[in-house]
Amino acid sequence: MAMLGWEELEQTCLSCRKCALADTRHNVVFGVGPRDAEILLIGEGPGENEDLKGEPFVGRAGKLLDEMLAVVDLDRKKNVYIANMVKCRPPQNRDPLNTEQDACIGYLRNQTALLRPKIIVCLGRVSALRIIKPDFKITKEHGQWFESAGVWMTALYHPAAILRDPRRRPETFEDLKKIQAKAKEVCLRTYS
Ligand code: URA
Ligand code: SF4
Repeated sequence: MAMLGWEELEQTCLSCRKCALADTRHNVVFGVGPRDAEILLIGEGPGENEDLKGEPFVGRAGKLLDEMLAVVDLDRKKNVYIANMVKCRPPQNRDPLNTEQDACIGYLRNQTALLRPKIIVCLGRVSALRIIKPDFKITKEHGQWFESAGVWMTALYHPAAILRDPRRRPETFEDLKKIQAKAKEVCLRTYS
C-alpha cells in the first residue's frame, strides 16, 4: 500500500473490507490522539465498547488505561496516540488471527510512518509479539527497552490483564515511571 496522508488513510480504513472482521463490526476503530504525539500506544483490537463507539480503549480497561497514563502526565487528548493491531472487533473478543493482523498491519505501519514516534508502547503480548519480537514474553520482558532505528519500544501488561490480576499493578507502575523517564530523555514536546 502506498503511504497516505492522515485524512486519506482514515477514510480508506473506515471503508476497508480486506478481512472477514468487516462482516461483524459496527465501527472501524482507527485510532485516537494528537497526530503529532511522540508516544504511540498499540493495543490488540477493539472490544465491544470500542466497536460501538469507534474509539480505542473506552470500556473498563480503557478507563484503567487513562488512569494509569494520568499518573505519568500522559493523556490521549494531549500527548499520546492510541491505535490497535486490528481496527475491527474480533468476535467474542478472541485474539486477532495472524491472517487478520496481516491484512490490517499496513494501516498501523502508515500511522507509524506519519507519526514518527520516539517511543512505542505495546499494550499486552499480542502487539508486543508482532511489534517488538516474535518470542516476546510479557511476564518476563514487560518494562524492558528494545531500540530499533532510533525508536524506543517497550510493553506493558494489557489493562484488561491488570483488571484480572491486580498484583500486576505495582510492576506496571514501575514500568510507567520508566516510560516517563525515557520520554523526558528522548521526547521534545511530550512534557513541555
Ligand atoms: N483492548 C484493546 O486491545 N484495544 C482496545 O481498543 C480496547 C481493548
Ligand atoms: Fe480492514 Fe483491518 Fe478491519 Fe480487516 S480489521 S476489515 S483489514 S480495517
